[in-house]
Amino acid sequence: MKALLCERHGPPETLVFREVEAPVPGPGQVRIKMAAAGVNLPDGLIIQNLYQVKPDLPFTPGSEVAGEVDAVGEDVSDFRVGDRVAAMTVHGAFAEQTVVLADRVVKLPPAMPFDTAASLLMAYGTAFHAFRQRAALRPGETVLVLGAGGGVGLAAVELARAMGARVIAAAGSEEKRALALAHGAEAAIDYRNEDLRERVSAWTEGRGVDVVYDPVGGDMAERAFRSIARYGRFLVIGFAAGSIPSLPINLPLLKSASIVGVFWGSFLVNEPETHRRNMQELFELYAQGAIRPHISRKFALADSATAIRWIMDRKALGKVVVTAE
Ligand SMILES: NC(=O)c1ccc[n+]([C@@H]2O[C@H](COP(=O)([O-])OP(=O)(O)OC[C@H]3O[C@@H](n4cnc5c(N)ncnc54)[C@H](OP(=O)(O)O)[C@@H]3O)[C@@H](O)[C@H]2O)c1
Repeated sequence: MKALLCERHGPPETLVFREVEAPVPGPGQVRIKMAAAGVNLPDGLIIQNLYQVKPDLPFTPGSEVAGEVDAVGEDVSDFRVGDRVAAMTVHGAFAEQTVVLADRVVKLPPAMPFDTAASLLMAYGTAFHAFRQRAALRPGETVLVLGAGGGVGLAAVELARAMGARVIAAAGSEEKRALALAHGAEAAIDYRNEDLRERVSAWTEGRGVDVVYDPVGGDMAERAFRSIARYGRFLVIGFAAGSIPSLPINLPLLKSASIVGVFWGSFLVNEPETHRRNMQELFELYAQGAIRPHISRKFALADSATAIRWIMDRKALGKVVVTAE
């Protein structure tokens, strides 16, 4: 089979695309014939050895896949060859076939296209887990989403809205703000040039927002935290800006607010049943038309390295997907 390979750590331009041996599923594993794979910012970090997960070289990047099961290992009873599925892989998805543990795999509704599934799994899975299990988001609450035009950001905008919240989106380009507004945000802030705190305060009539969803980090985190309401929850999602922020610990005290960590990858490994239930709810929201993953670019599998570069250059609007054909 063909696969993208990281043979030495470095930027996407150092990756190679070549023929390798197809992986064989071991006990408890299934092999998925890739139809589509979502591209995520961590794919650009893992190849540079800058991510929390550090696979041995050589390895194939790609953290989520959708396709058909084409082989099953021993002790797998829940899946059969031909099942339409999606799975978190951490790495390995930018290949014609990939092997994953069966308990990380979810079956797809018959009507869901593979590219949609590959866009929905991690971005919406993370946002749903963040709002449902970590923030206990309630209808009528207000949510500020940073990086609202990116993969996990746009998913958070749509989901918060679908869960009955009111959303204010912060994003760095006109195009990204327009996209967030089209996906359910009521207001959009240019967080690079406008005063985030002032705009949030005006929009919430001085109250602040109940929930902040932060996949960006850097110096934006403290400004966003200062916009939080009493009993607010600040969801730590990621550090796309490249630096891990520090917050003065008097800030949560002053607002009786919480800093809440969200680690979707660990959640789905440790609580597979709850993860499956979350995915079922997401599939229902999709069937109702309440969420519509936005795919701005598709790349062929052979061009996966370019797809990773596209994300790293901050060009992605919503999701970027690699497809087998
Ligand atoms: N906690 C979890 O379980 C979990 C799960 C999935 C992903 N994540 C994390 O979420 C973050 C976003 O991932 P993603 O795949 O959604 O990425 P993405 O589509 O590239 O979106 C990231 C957004 O961050 C903003 N940004 C600010 N500074 C940036 C920089 N220096 N480089 C790139 N983007 C920058 C960009 O928005 P503007 O241009 O509008 O500023 C961009 O749209 C990553 O840190 C990832 O590790 C966490």
